[in-house]
Amino acid sequence: MRTVIKGGTIVTADGSELADVLVEDESIVAIAASGEHSWEEGADSVIDAVGKYIIPGAIDVHTHFELPFGGTFVSDSFESGTRSAAHGGTTTIVDFAVQVKGETVREGFDNWMAKADGNCAIDYGFHMIVGDINEGSLKEMEAIVDDGVTSFKLFMAYPGVLYSDDGEIFRAMQQASRDGTTIMMHAENGIAIDVLREQAVARGETDPKYHTITRPPKTESEAVHRALTLAELAGCPIYIVHMSAKEGVMELTKARDRGQNAFGETCPHYLHLSVEDDIDVPGFEGAKYVCSTPIRFREEGHQEYLWNALARGDLQVVSTDHACFFYDDDETMGRQKRLGEGNFTLIPNGLPGVEERLNVMYQSGVVEGRFSLNRWVDLCATSPAKMFGLYPKKGTIAVGSDADIVVFDPNASFTYGTDTIHGNIDYTAYDGMEISGSPVVVMSRGKVIIDGGRYVGSKGDGRYLKRGLSQMLI
Ligand code: URP
Ligand code: ZN
Ligand code: ZN
Repeated sequence: MRTVIKGGTIVTADGSELADVLVEDESIVAIAASGEHSWEEGADSVIDAVGKYIIPGAIDVHTHFELPFGGTFVSDSFESGTRSAAHGGTTTIVDFAVQVKGETVREGFDNWMAKADGNCAIDYGFHMIVGDINEGSLKEMEAIVDDGVTSFKLFMAYPGVLYSDDGEIFRAMQQASRDGTTIMMHAENGIAIDVLREQAVARGETDPKYHTITRPPKTESEAVHRALTLAELAGCPIYIVHMSAKEGVMELTKARDRGQNAFGETCPHYLHLSVEDDIDVPGFEGAKYVCSTPIRFREEGHQEYLWNALARGDLQVVSTDHACFFYDDDETMGRQKRLGEGNFTLIPNGLPGVEERLNVMYQSGVVEGRFSLNRWVDLCATSPAKMFGLYPKKGTIAVGSDADIVVFDPNASFTYGTDTIHGNIDYTAYDGMEISGSPVVVMSRGKVIIDGGRYVGSKGDGRYLKRGLSQMLI
């Protein structure tokens, strides 16, 4: 099967060039200027990309599909979630398999492999949440590298659920240091937060905005500092997930300036939403955007700080932390966000975004002049691939890479609303946002799966990816 993508501008993290791409079966086999080849003779199909960008399929390294959480389940399955990702130009996700207390790491991994198997529209890998750190699970962290799991998420938040104490965290970091794997940290001081939550509820402060008020920036930056210090002591690479507080990013920058293998991601919702505009609103609507770390107060200046950190390289990745729960009760999923009506501590944490990420980052990042086209590709595809051992198979347009390709039309335009999204969810965080640019063709390993906005792939097209060690290390 030979496909020629013709007349577009190839945009990678390193540069842009007007050139054609030849895809054979699942891979990119040649790149050349129009006029320097005659590939169309004998091609099975030709995709006209004149006036469009040809970019690598986007990679979202932080999704949660079918996750049991907050007394319910994330409403997107691997099938609906990966299909909606494809609509938005994402061709690889790395989700989180979970080892819960009393279970082995292997059991957790097998459970998640079974959920995904045969259901994904795009390629997928797994990080492992190690929720029960003990002698056995430390050994399993080493063994599971052979299955392509090279990163492990730990929680300083959620006491009694996924929380690990500093001793457990440090042991896991020592194990990662021995194996060359990466620790991913949910960095919030969950113990202090639990005190603040209890006190707030006792005072009758139960609206969604108290979710943010009981998780002030220092509960994030203290945990970021502690995580970085423990990782430095153990000698393992560390990646801080879903960073929302500027004080946390300052800690990360200091560690990087010291030469530490320390990295961080933020998510589009922290760059666009605020308590003032989206959470402290009449009724219960603010619950839609309750997540952890929390959406912060606009007046505290976190958003501009995060944007600048992305532009200058102090943050390396934009992921979504996609974890969606229906706002209104759903026939199949039942009561989700509304579980927390009258008590914000019962609102399931998380929001959707896997479909919107590439577009909103293009709009607010590139169109609004915060960074270049190349940095956009870097943040959404190339750095995620390098960070989690997928490069150059994924994350770039190069000879030998998988043909995961998005033809992106910068002249397309639309407005986000519930009718423009495709996941199993009843709202988007970007409702009413006017977008320029959109993926028009999405190719996953040489197969067109989105054509003119229509999904033309099949469930099960996506394959499990065994990942290598991080390629971002210094
Ligand atoms: O609110 C969030 N982030 N929900 C998903 C679970 C997590 O901590 O990543
Ligand atoms: Zn988390
Ligand atoms: Zn998450």
